[in-house]
Amino acid sequence: MKVLLGVGGGIAAFKAAALASQLVQAGCELRVAMTRDAHRFIGATTFAGLSGSQVIASSTQIDADGSAPHIQATKNADCLVIMPATASLIARLAAGVCDDPVTLCSVAFRGRRIACPAMNDAMWEDPSVQRNVDRLRADGFEILGPVEGHLAEGYAAMGRMIEPEAVIAAVLERR
Ligand SMILES: Cc1cc2nc3c(=O)[nH]c(=O)nc-3n(C[C@H](O)[C@H](O)[C@H](O)COP(=O)(O)O)c2cc1C
Repeated sequence: MKVLLGVGGGIAAFKAAALASQLVQAGCELRVAMTRDAHRFIGATTFAGLSGSQVIASSTQIDADGSAPHIQATKNADCLVIMPATASLIARLAAGVCDDPVTLCSVAFRGRRIACPAMNDAMWEDPSVQRNVDRLRADGFEILGPVEGHLAEGYAAMGRMIEPEAVIAAVLERR
């Protein structure tokens, strides 16, 4: 199975590395795209090492073989997983903005798209976020989570990202 993983700029980005590792261990072929702010939370080297291929780090990137990775990576992918889907990234996805590698890949991909929101409870409750999540659902995205649980702010509330294991199960059930 070929999986494209889009990593957003949130505190839960470190869990995307666990997802990447487990997908590879499950036999998936993996390519990773990161938003600019995702690099502030986790290094591209981690994902390059886990996936065995260059990270898509810019929306104007050309790979060594001369191909545009957002076309090459989406052409044969079975599934796009966006983790963590931050409030900002969800808004750009809902609007069809293509100015970062993750949104660009999403717009270029006609297959199964899964987004895993993760944010503070107040952010999750904000009408703009709920409106954008509804938009994504209407556009065919599967929205996995968030769940209630411990947040980085130090208390338990709705907004915690779904665990990578549950995402793997959802991805592999369509194998
Ligand atoms: C420590 C820290 C943690 C953050 N965690 C989140 C988060 O979990 N969810 C979220 O929506 N934004 C979070 N933010 C804000 C995002 O990092 C910010 O909106 C960023 O521009 C999102 O990048 P993206 O649109 O590339 O995902 C956090 C900011 C900081 C400083």
